[in-house]
Amino acid sequence: MAVTTAPPRDQESGAARRHRSTTRSLLRLWPYVRPVRARLFAAAAAAVVASCLGLVIPLVLKWMVDGPVAGREPGGVWLGGALLLALGVAEAGLFGLRRWLVARPLASVEASMRASLYRHLQRLPVTFHDRWASGQLLSRATTDLMLLRRFLAFPLTFLVVNGVTILVGFAILLAQAWTLGLVLLVPAVPLMILCSLFETRYSAIARSAQDQTGDLTTVVEEGVLGIRIVKGFGRHRSQARAFRALAERVRATELRKAGLLATIWALIMTLPELAIGAALVLGTIQVADGDLSAGTLVAFLSTALALRWPVESLGFLLAMSQDSATATDRFFEVMDATPADTVDRPAEDTASVLPRQRGEGGLRFEAVEFRYGDAPRGTPPVLRGVDLHIRPGETMALVGATGSGKTTLTALVPRLHEVTRGRITLDGRDITALPREELRALVAVAFEEPTLFSATAGENVLMGADGADRAALARALRVAQAEFVHALPRGTDTEVGEQGLSLSGGQRQRLALARAVVGAPRFLVLDDPLSALDVHTEARVEAALRQVLATTTALVVAHRPSTVLLADRVALLEEGRIAAVGTHHQLLRDSAAYRALMAGQDGEDDHEGGNGEDGP
Ligand SMILES: Nc1ncnc2c1ncn2[C@@H]1O[C@H](COP(=O)(O)OP(=O)(O)OP(=O)(O)O)[C@@H](O)[C@H]1O
Ligand SMILES: [Mg+2]
Repeated sequence: MAVTTAPPRDQESGAARRHRSTTRSLLRLWPYVRPVRARLFAAAAAAVVASCLGLVIPLVLKWMVDGPVAGREPGGVWLGGALLLALGVAEAGLFGLRRWLVARPLASVEASMRASLYRHLQRLPVTFHDRWASGQLLSRATTDLMLLRRFLAFPLTFLVVNGVTILVGFAILLAQAWTLGLVLLVPAVPLMILCSLFETRYSAIARSAQDQTGDLTTVVEEGVLGIRIVKGFGRHRSQARAFRALAERVRATELRKAGLLATIWALIMTLPELAIGAALVLGTIQVADGDLSAGTLVAFLSTALALRWPVESLGFLLAMSQDSATATDRFFEVMDATPADTVDRPAEDTASVLPRQRGEGGLRFEAVEFRYGDAPRGTPPVLRGVDLHIRPGETMALVGATGSGKTTLTALVPRLHEVTRGRITLDGRDITALPREELRALVAVAFEEPTLFSATAGENVLMGADGADRAALARALRVAQAEFVHALPRGTDTEVGEQGLSLSGGQRQRLALARAVVGAPRFLVLDDPLSALDVHTEARVEAALRQVLATTTALVVAHRPSTVLLADRVALLEEGRIAAVGTHHQLLRDSAAYRALMAGQDGEDDHEGGNGEDGP
C-alpha cells in the first residue's frame, strides 16, 4: 500500500458540484424506507397527536382561569388539574410509543442500505476502485449511513410533527385573539427567507465537511495499512503532519458549520421571543381595557410558549436534514456508479464478424487492444493488437520488460478490465458472452501481489473454488508447496491476520497459488507467481506446478528463466504487441530482445526490465 503525503483524491471538487434540492435528494431514500413505511407513518401520527395534545393544555388552563378560578370553585380546579395530568401522561406515552415504533425498523433500513452499498461495491469494476479512495467509500458506508438512520428516526418525523403543531397552534392562536396572533406571525416571513438563505450556504459546508471526513479516513487507513513503510522510512512525522493538516481542515469546516448554525439559531430564537414580548404587552393592555378575558390571554401566551420549541427546533432540524441530504447524495454517488464497462459489452463488430472457429480450443487473444480509462489523452494504449493463441493444455509463458503490460493482459482474461477492442475467447467462446460465474469458474488467477483476507489459511485457499473439499485443499497446498500451513499453530484453521500480514511474502504467494489451483480450473492465469520464493522453494513449486500445468491451459507471466522453462512456449510482449512466440530455445536463437531480457541486460529504456527479481 502506497503511503502518500499528498491529499487523497477528492471525488468531486466543490465548484463542480451541481446544485441540487434537499427534498429531491432525500426522496431517493424512499425505496429503502418503503418496507417500514407503515411503522414510520404510525410513529409520525403518534407524535403529531402527542404534540397536539400539548396544545390542548393551554385551553384547559383558559377554562380553569375563566371558570373555576374566577368563580372560586375548588372542585373545578381539581378536575382541571386531573385533566392536565392525564393530558401530560398521554403525551409522554405517545412519544414513548413513537420511539418504540421506529427503533427496530430503522436499524433494519440502515442495515439494508449498507448491505446494498457493499454488494454494489463488490460488483463495481476494478477501474472504479482504482479511481476512488477507499476512505471515501468507508466513510460513506459508516458515517453517512448512520446520519441517515438518525435522520429517519428524528428530524424527518419532527419536521412533520413540528410543522403540523405550528399550523394547529397558530390556528388556535388566531381563533383566540386574532390581532395578537398576527403579531406573532410577523417574524415568520423574515425567518423563512433567512432559513432558505441558510440552507444554501449550509449545504455547501455540510458537503465539504463530509468529503473531508472521507479524506481523513483515507489517510488514517493508509497510515495504518502502510505502517511498515511509515516506520521503515521514519515517515511518522510527515504522516502525522499530513494527518494533522487534514484534521485541521475538518475542524475548520466543522467550526464554520457550527458558526452558521449558531447564527441561524440565534435568529430563530430571538425573533419569536420578541414577538411574544410584543404580544404580551398588547394583550395586557387589551385585558386592562376589558377587550380580552384574562383566561384567553393566559391560554394565548401558553400556546405561544408551547410553540416555542417547535419553531426553535426548525433550525437544527433543517440543518440535520441538510446533512442527511448530503449523506444521501454521497451514498447514491456510489450506488449510481455503473461505468460502461460493468455492462456486458454488446457483441461488437469484431465479435460478430469473426466466426466462432470450431475445434479452436484454448485461450485466444484476437487483436486485443486495451487502454486504461484514466490514462491521459493522447497516450498510446497499453496493449495494441495482441494476437496470441494458447492451445488447449499448453502452458504459455509471457515475458516482457517491466511496465510492458503483462499484468494488464492477464487481468483481461477474468474480465477485471474490459478489452477496448478485439476479443478474447476461451475454447472458442467470447468471454464477454460467457456469464460471469461461468467465466470465473473456468479461469483461476494468482496475481503478483498475493492478496489474503482476514480468515483462516484454509478459507483463503478454498475461496478459489466453490465446493472444493478438504482433499482438494490438501492437494492444492501440496502443489503450491504451501505445506508450511500444517505447521502453523492451528494448521489450516490458523487465522492469517489482516491481509495475511502474519505470513512471509513467499508464504502468502504460495497460499495465493494454492487458491488458484484448488478448483482444478480449465484455464490458469498466473502473474509471476513465484517471484518471492527462494531458489529451492521455487524449484519445488515448479516441480509440483508442472503436474497442474499438464492438465490445464495456462498463461504464466514470468521474469526468470527458470519459470519460463515451465512453459511449452514463450510469448514476448513488446510495445503492446506480441513481438515473438516460440519455445525458449527458438526465441533465444531468433530474438535479440528476448536474449537481452533473459540475460538480464535488456536493451529497453527501462533498465529494471526482467532482471529486477533475478536470483544470484
Ligand atoms: N490502474 C491503472 N491505471 C492506469 N494505468 C495503469 C494501471 N495499471 C497499470 N497501468 C499502466 O499500464 C502499463 C502496464 O502495466 P502492467 O502492470 O501491465 O506492467 P507489467 O508488464 O505487469 O510490469 P511488471 O513486470 O513490472 O509487473 C504501465 O505503464 C502502467 O503505468
Ligand atoms: Mg506486472
